[in-house]
This record gives sequence, C-alpha cells and structure tokens, in this order.
Amino acid sequence: MESMMRPDALKGRTIVVTGGGTGLGRSMTGTLLELGANVCITSRKLDVLEGTARELEKATGGTVLPLACDVRNYAEVEQVVKSANARFGKVDGLINNAAGNFISPTERLSSKAFQTIIDIVLMGSVNCTLAFGKDWITKGERDKAILNIVTTYAWTGSGYVVPSACAKAGVLALTRSLAAEWGKYGIRSNAVAPGPFPTKGAWSRLMPGEMLEKFDMTKRVPLGRLGEHRELADLVAYLVSPYSGYVNGEVVTIDGGEWIKGGGQFNMLDMVEPGMWDAIEQMVRSTKGS
Ligand code: HXC
Ligand code: NAP
Repeated sequence: MESMMRPDALKGRTIVVTGGGTGLGRSMTGTLLELGANVCITSRKLDVLEGTARELEKATGGTVLPLACDVRNYAEVEQVVKSANARFGKVDGLINNAAGNFISPTERLSSKAFQTIIDIVLMGSVNCTLAFGKDWITKGERDKAILNIVTTYAWTGSGYVVPSACAKAGVLALTRSLAAEWGKYGIRSNAVAPGPFPTKGAWSRLMPGEMLEKFDMTKRVPLGRLGEHRELADLVAYLVSPYSGYVNGEVVTIDGGEWIKGGGQFNMLDMVEPGMWDAIEQMVRSTKGS
C-alpha cells in the first residue's frame, strides 16, 4: 500500500521520532522518509538505530540521523536537540513514541518497577517536549508539531498494565494542556491512540508465549483484524504535516473500534448464535404488561 499523501508532502521538514529504531516508530520513520522528511531516530540502542537508519535510507533515499538517547535523562535529550539542529538546521516535529510496558498483577510490582514505566513513558515524553519546546520558543520558530503516541486505555484505564495506563493518561493530559498553552507559539500538540498493531516489542511483553493464541486479539476488534503499520504511519504523517495545521489538542483513535466494543455493556451479545434471536425476541415480547 502506498502512502495517502503525495511524495514530497514533508519535503524540507525534519521530524524526531523517539523509539524510532523498532516497531511502530520504525514504520512511521519509513513513511516520513518516503514523504521527503529528514528523520532523527533515537533510543537507547545505537546499533539497532544504525541498522534501521541504513535500511530505511537504502529503501527510501531519505536521510536518517540515529542518536542514542535515554529519554529519562534530560541532558541526553538536550543533546539530541543540539545534534538534530546542527545536522538539519531546524526541527519541525517531535513524535513521542518511546515506551516501556509489561503485563503484571499490580500487587506483584515493586515501587521501582512502577517508577520505571512512569519514567520512560511520562517523564520521557515530558523531557523531550520540554527540551524541544524551549528551543522553539526561545528561537521564536513557529509551525511546529508535537505528536504523542498514547493508547485507548489512557482514558479507560486497564488492569495488569497499570503503570502504563497511569503514564499514558498523563501524556494525554500533557497533550491537551500544551495544546491550550503553546498554541500561541505556533506549536500544535496532538496524540494518536493505536489499538493492537503487531510489534515484537509489544507482543513479547503483553502477550507472551501461548497467550497470543489464547486471547485472540482480532475478536476484540469490530473490524475483525489487527492494525496495519501503514495505516498508523499515514495518520501520524498527516498529524505532523502542515495539512493538519488547524488540528490542535486532538487525540485520534485508530483501533478498528476496539475500545468502543469493549466499553459497551451489551457488546458481549456478539456471543449469541444468530438463530437464537427469534426465541429471545419472543421471550422479551412476552413480558409485555407483566
Ligand atoms: C515485574 C518487572 C518486570 C516484570 C521488569 N520489572 N520487568 N517487574 N514483572 N515482567 C521490574 C524490575 O524487576 C525492576 O524492579 C524494574 O522493573 C526495572 O526493570 P529493569 O529491567 O531494570 O528496567 P529497564 O532496563 O529500564 O527496562 C525497562 C522495561 C523493559 C520496561 C522493563 O521491558 C524495556 O526496556 N522495554 C522497552 C520496550 C517496551 O517495553 N516496548 C513495549 C511497548 S508496548 P526492581 O524493584 O526489581 O529493581 C506498549 C503498548 C501499549 O506500550 C498498548 C497496547 C495495546
Ligand atoms: P517497541 O518496538 O518496543 O517500541 C518502543 C521503543 O521505545 C523501542 O524502540 C525502545 O528502544 C524505545 N525505548 C524504550 N525505553 C526507552 C528509553 N528509556 N529511552 C529511549 N527509548 C526507549 O514497541 P511498539 O509497539 O512499536 O510501541 C511504540 C509505541 O506505540 C509506544 O508508545 C506504545 O505504547 C504505543 N502503542 C503500541 C501499540 C501496539 O499494539 N504495538 C498499541 C498502542 C500503543 P530501546 O530499547 O533501544 O531504547
């Protein structure tokens, strides 16, 4: 599938993607490059980033700057701001995609385990947002986009991934708060909430071993399938592009309807055999007047 946007839609723009060496971040990076953007990808593992950079540059003809940076460390994030500006002259967009997560009953978690996820997801997004935001505001540069990758349990909450749910809820609050505060500086702040998109990083930590077969994720989704990376990457590209210039403070859900299905009280009636409905209707109608 080709991108929905025209090939030069992001020409001359530079986007930073945290966690850009793997999974969804890597797919987003590929699409941004196809659309003509320069992309700076960051994470803790420089060898992974360099491999991704080589492969995507070869595939797209674009330019990738791979930089090691633990988003928990503000000094390292500031160094990314410096290096990306030095390499490309300016940065136009920041995608806060890096995350840490694993399933666990909450009572089994140490305080350190909880803190680790909050530090990566919430403080990591805060650190990058602060460092790039301060740089843009100080220089008086406008027409900037921050895009935060959250998930639908940022607003519903979810058991067994409680640190991640707390952190993503914080990131969503950050998104909306700064949309209100930093709009005046020409900085837009939006979020995307993906449903299930297969990646090694997420699947190995959230559905390890036989769990994947036991809990068929496609059954949770009204559209009956998982997301395709291209579908998410296109949405992300639109939201960091000037074409979405009046979209600010929004969270766009891309989950095939998963959270709506999980939320409705009677959606479990999916399990009723279609042939049973005549009998059920008769039973319900017979209650008239009783
Ligand atoms: C209980 C655990 C644990 C587990 C780690 N800890 N794994 N506790 N169950 N499975 C505890 C450790 O014992 C330690 O606490 C603390 O957490 C920190 O662990 P470290 O291994 O030292 O942390 P670190 O090296 O920083 O690694 C972070 C990580 C790791 C999150 C634990 O998995 C990682 O690097 N993840 C990055 C990639 C990732 O998670 N991708 C998935 C994103 S998917 P103590 O007290 O023992 O010192 C996603 C999807 C959302 O976000 C929505 C899906 C629908
Ligand atoms: P992934 O491949 O594991 O991506 C996570 C990335 O974050 C990795 O590249 C990792 O690289 C980086 N990272 C982790 N800790 C970091 C740190 N301290 N500093 C810098 N980088 C760090 O998983 P994914 O599925 O693509 O997830 C990408 C995003 O989508 C996340 O925000 C996730 O919450 C969100 N999401 C995913 C799904 C899904 O179904 N896959 C659904 C909803 C939301 P290093 O290990 O090299 O640091």
